Amino acid sequence: MCGIIGYIGPKNIVPLLIDGLKKLEYRGYDSAGIAVVDSGKLYLQRVKGKINELESTLEGETVSGQYGLGHTRWATHGRPSEENAHPHRDCTGSIVVVHNGIIENYLTLKKMLREEGHEFVSETDTEVIAHLIEKYFEDKLEVAVQKALKELEGDFAISAISTKDKEKIVAAKSGPPAVVGIGEGEYLISSDINPLLSHTQDVVFLEDGEMAIIRKDGVEFRDFDGKPLDKPAERLAWNPLMIEKRGYKHFMLKEIFEQPQVLRDTFEGRISLDSGTVNLGEIEISPTNLREISRVVIIACGTSYHAALMGRYLIETLARVSVDVEYASEYRYRDFILDQNSLVVVVSQSGETADTLAALRAVKKGNPLTLAICNVINSSIARESLGVLSTHAGPEIGVAATKTFSAQMAALALLAIHLAQIKKTIDSQESLALIQDLQRIPHKIEMILNEADIVEKLAWDFVPFSHFLYLGRWINFPIALEGALKLKEISYMHAEGYAGGEMKHGPIALIDEKMPTMAIVPKDRVYDKMLSNISEIKARVGHILAVAFQEDEDIRDRVDDVIPIPSTNQLFTPFLTTVPLQLFAYYIAAIRGADVDQPRNLAKSVTVE
Ligand code: M6R
Repeated sequence: MCGIIGYIGPKNIVPLLIDGLKKLEYRGYDSAGIAVVDSGKLYLQRVKGKINELESTLEGETVSGQYGLGHTRWATHGRPSEENAHPHRDCTGSIVVVHNGIIENYLTLKKMLREEGHEFVSETDTEVIAHLIEKYFEDKLEVAVQKALKELEGDFAISAISTKDKEKIVAAKSGPPAVVGIGEGEYLISSDINPLLSHTQDVVFLEDGEMAIIRKDGVEFRDFDGKPLDKPAERLAWNPLMIEKRGYKHFMLKEIFEQPQVLRDTFEGRISLDSGTVNLGEIEISPTNLREISRVVIIACGTSYHAALMGRYLIETLARVSVDVEYASEYRYRDFILDQNSLVVVVSQSGETADTLAALRAVKKGNPLTLAICNVINSSIARESLGVLSTHAGPEIGVAATKTFSAQMAALALLAIHLAQIKKTIDSQESLALIQDLQRIPHKIEMILNEADIVEKLAWDFVPFSHFLYLGRWINFPIALEGALKLKEISYMHAEGYAGGEMKHGPIALIDEKMPTMAIVPKDRVYDKMLSNISEIKARVGHILAVAFQEDEDIRDRVDDVIPIPSTNQLFTPFLTTVPLQLFAYYIAAIRGADVDQPRNLAKSVTVE
């Protein structure tokens, strides 16, 4: 969703802000803008559309400056337009604000401010912040911001500058993320760490209710009441190279190809072939507590929800604990029942998804054990959960989640084996065999990736279609859902994922020659059932592509096309069946000329409800 970048220091500020905005593009946006103060004079430029359009409008300008803000806007209040794009100004044009989130009481504030004589020029909720700061401004920007914050209801991360209180950026957080970058004689503020990496790896994450007053010679932290805070910087493990395309046409393709390494990194230090065990001491939930668990509830959204669904099969099968998987956006409003023996696992790549965070906060009132599976260290969900199991996927820039999905499944597989060991539902030999199978997965994914051209060739045949059905059963049912989501997200083709056994209860009515089916058919406990489902589709002249084990010769007579994958333990087939579906969605979208990394209307991290 919206992205904020701010800078104060000696570098050439306009290109720096533009570069920062480009690194925030993946979050999703529909307009962009910058504001820079140069020798006390404010320079502001905004556009509806992409950052390269903003860049074009800046061509030939000779603006430099000492401090400034940039913003990518994902419209919530007011259509995408130049007037609604950020930064926003007060009546005097001396106070400038950028904002991520929603000000829920903005209509009340707008009415009040209008009655006091303020004039509004946009339809946004953000503009009220600029006018509130104007109302309270005397001589210090931070004091005015602090007073304005008291009036705001909702979720927000803001940054403000002024030409009247120079060389200062004031940032505040109550909801969406905000991180301060501490460089050598320069400071930055950003919505995430990606734009900071090329300047510094030393950062301070703001917590809710905290402000940063950033000057060219240092940063001061305070709470919303003005009380000083001591917040030491921490060093990031991510580096700037991780957010480059490195020769790939799209980030999504690069991230699909990174999956073998991501899985190795996620297993590293957590599995031991010598002892045949999974060691998750890092999660800070003791084996004694885990042994007592009688129920697991996994909460997530989107692709993370699909990983959670897959994790359910693993945990139930291996650890013999009952698992419920819930959409965070629904669960947060349920009168749910949890007891002290429940383990609540929240799965989120970004760790900032508003619904997942709200569901976590709601469940915490009942005091169950909470465990976050997150990719972004120090994200809100990671910080607010009792334990954290990090997915070591590195930064994911493509809006469509790929490598983080595999990493989430890997983390859930480790959790399932860990629980099973603690609960003694598997013996040491079974544990060792599972770990050995898991360890072979990255190489098997490499084998699939080496034959990506098979999937690319097939993709060309299906570009003209408008609808697609994805079928899977048992542990591959979530993969059918995920495969369909990938195709929808990036190619804008209508795709539905179904459990094979559900076909005859309705969806089979859709089958004709215009509705192809992607069937996920590894040799597992439901293989024969899937074959029956395939026959039912074939009888209705539906075209079928199957993802199947390469040694499965029988399947070739039953379907039209086969994407072969290596065989593996049936519990781990999703790691392999996922990859061709990601590639298939990618190639279809790329052939169609779609904006693969930044699909329309989507945001990487959904920080508003
Ligand atoms: O950051 P999260 O994992 O919490 O995000 C959840 C969803 O918004 C996300 O998975 C979304 O569905 C992606 N676009 C999937 O490709």
